Amino acid sequence: MKYDEGTNKAKQLVNQPTDNHTGDTLAALTLAEKVHLCHAATLFSVCGIARLGIPDMVMSDGPHGVREELADDDWAPRGDVDDSCSYLPTGTALAATWNSDMAKRHGMVLGAEARERGKDVILGPGINIIRTPLCGRNFEYYSEDPYLVAVLVGEEVRGIQSQGVAACAKHFACNSQELNRFAVDALPSERALREIYLPGFKAAVDAGLLTIMGAYNRLRGQWCCQNDYLLNQVLKTEWGFAGLVVSDWGGVHNNCFEPALYGLDIEMGTHRPFDEYFLAGDFLKALENGEIDEAVVDDTCRRYLFVMERIGAMGDGAAARPAGERNTAHHQAECRAIADEAMVLLKNDGLLPLDKTGISSLLVIGSNAMCRHAGGGGSAGVKPHYEITPLEGLQQYLSDAVRVEYCPDPMPADGSPIPNHLLSTADQSSGVKGWVRKRYDRHDVGGEVVEETAVTEVDLDWNEKLPDGVADAHEWSLRYVTTLTPEKSGTYTFVLRGNRDAGLNVNGSILLKRRDEDGAPDTACSKIELIAGKPYELVVRVAPNETGSSKHVKLTWLTPDDATATSLAELREKARQADVVIYVGGLSHLEEIEGRDRKTYRLPGLQDEVIAALADANPNLVIMMTGGSPYAMPWVDQVPAILHMGYAGMEAGAVAARILFGEVNPSGKLPFTFPIKLEDSSAHCLDDYQRDVCYYKEDIFVGYRWFDQRDIAPLFCFGHGLSYTSFDYRDLEIATDGEGIATISCRVTNTGLMTGAEVVQLYLHDCECSVRRPPQELKGFRKVYLDPGESTSVTFILRESDLAFFHPTRREWVAEEGDFEVRVNASSRDNRLTGVFSFSRPSGESRPL
Ligand code: BGC
Repeated sequence: MKYDEGTNKAKQLVNQPTDNHTGDTLAALTLAEKVHLCHAATLFSVCGIARLGIPDMVMSDGPHGVREELADDDWAPRGDVDDSCSYLPTGTALAATWNSDMAKRHGMVLGAEARERGKDVILGPGINIIRTPLCGRNFEYYSEDPYLVAVLVGEEVRGIQSQGVAACAKHFACNSQELNRFAVDALPSERALREIYLPGFKAAVDAGLLTIMGAYNRLRGQWCCQNDYLLNQVLKTEWGFAGLVVSDWGGVHNNCFEPALYGLDIEMGTHRPFDEYFLAGDFLKALENGEIDEAVVDDTCRRYLFVMERIGAMGDGAAARPAGERNTAHHQAECRAIADEAMVLLKNDGLLPLDKTGISSLLVIGSNAMCRHAGGGGSAGVKPHYEITPLEGLQQYLSDAVRVEYCPDPMPADGSPIPNHLLSTADQSSGVKGWVRKRYDRHDVGGEVVEETAVTEVDLDWNEKLPDGVADAHEWSLRYVTTLTPEKSGTYTFVLRGNRDAGLNVNGSILLKRRDEDGAPDTACSKIELIAGKPYELVVRVAPNETGSSKHVKLTWLTPDDATATSLAELREKARQADVVIYVGGLSHLEEIEGRDRKTYRLPGLQDEVIAALADANPNLVIMMTGGSPYAMPWVDQVPAILHMGYAGMEAGAVAARILFGEVNPSGKLPFTFPIKLEDSSAHCLDDYQRDVCYYKEDIFVGYRWFDQRDIAPLFCFGHGLSYTSFDYRDLEIATDGEGIATISCRVTNTGLMTGAEVVQLYLHDCECSVRRPPQELKGFRKVYLDPGESTSVTFILRESDLAFFHPTRREWVAEEGDFEVRVNASSRDNRLTGVFSFSRPSGESRPL
């Protein structure tokens, strides 16, 4: 690609003050040294310039713990014994606290642990807006609402950076699905971008964010890591971001010009030798021959020095830089405190809290009762110091007072996908573990490999799309290859389902084969003894077949634990005899993982059938669910109590037990809407959840804005969450003569018998406006802690910017005069107090903000 002089000037150079020191350092750097600061030197670091005292910049994932150490040039774990960390509640769990103080404390723990592990940058928080319930990374993100994201992210960034570590908000921007994440083009309107998808990032920048990560996807045709509009025009020029833009790992494409000129500073994770990165040798050449102006690289160097200076990594600052701490009792207490507020009581017909004196036998059912989640999910996975499961939490809490019996879920006959953390093949551009899929140009052996792709499981669906360049499915064959290291010795059953010729080899020997006779789907299974800790090479071969238009192949397995699973009939019988039954289900990182979206809104396995059967057998049934996204609950009316636990970190099990028995009063509120069915949510209703291009057809009507606008009843609405006590709201007052445009206050009283916390939520409705606006938008929230009978006054100050919308044609923020309705709510749909105020300017003119 050729760049003319005009394009060469594309990079907007922010006028950062160049102090004498920075100026001297810049002058002393050779061009080659400057280029060194623009790309990775190992998988997670940039090499500094030792002769000038410029330190290396060491990064780590993020976002809810410091990732284990990986090899320098490979995604394989280094196998260190001292790289465990605290596993904090993940994004949506943190957001469910609706508590900015918790976000700050979350950030402080993360920052201090990163610091103790010698990191300069922690790759988090992840703050993409939740647009579809299916997105595999929702659990890492915060919410569907930009205001909630903005308030929390500011505090999280401050918390992290108070520890001498740079935060890295990601993924900028519109990374709202994992489906075809390396290429999908997001085409939101300017208004949707400004009102929904960007405010979180803007708030992070306003809080002093030092680094930001570009997203993998495209925005309006340009990849986000080399996107002139996003990086140069909005982030660096309009918002004045003075820190570094870091690419997502492997997010840089085709040449050095676009990344260098369209706003990227540091290239990471490209699948090439480090000195062949786009911003390495090619960049140096382009600078040397004048195709790119030296001011471009100087700008990145200035930013590098600025970030290192700010975190105290340079010169004199280093002495005062916090040393950090890790796995301390204080951090464990912080994880517990955040988790206490992160769980959302969705339903309670009076069964909860349980009274342990009235119970002699407790039956706990479901695989999530025993499952540890910290290591899963892709790049966000951590090696925790410990993780208390719900079953352990209950056992520890009840000790010998109550007999606790555990039964796993009955297994579907075809098992479940092989967990990614047991596979050691990693995607070279992202480190996500799974399989390498090799496509051959001929039927089976002897052909050439024409394409290699990283995939997270063997689950082929040719209804979706043939590989690029392939007109006819007969022209090709596939092999999936990985190395599996089981954690447990025993008999495993591999299950291959589909309607094509396929087979599985283990360590070179054929374990199973299925022949396609008539294009009809069927299943082949075979058992094998595997030894814990021993690596096994698995190869799945898939050949083209002659018949059938839809073509599927899927590999799953049954583990030794699944073999002992109780049948549904046995479970029902056991449930009948127990005093109380606790079902622990929901999602896990088998479904919620980087690199792929969930395929269905349904709960995995036989959960729906099991819950319905248990509800039939025993009225004292508590449902406890893990998950970072919403999921369907066809049995919702049949069960008396549902606790959404999220992924609440390493103390989750202990906290859940204390909530069930009333030692902690739940105070979490949903940061996203639970639709009744998938088609109720905007992207799916509008058929705009697509592989190649998403038009963001719902525009600004995302999340509850969509449900409100279309008057769709949610299963549980945004902001919903119950308590064991009750709160009364009264005495709404609106003053328009104070600070800001309006001061809204009311009195909230704990009218129940238990100490508890309530999140008072302020929504605003613009009564009349020249453009369509959502029926209501969150504009404030306060969490109050009250003893029984205690009351407090809650005050919100609305400013002109709170009334504004992004004008689609004027392309600026505008607050129009007129009436605004204020709703003080306990959830987006639980309105307690309403009032109206009128906004006018003395001049009578609307003006941009
Ligand atoms: C993810 C990032 C992560 C990076 C480094 C990428 O695949 O999208 O969120 O920080 O890998 O592990």
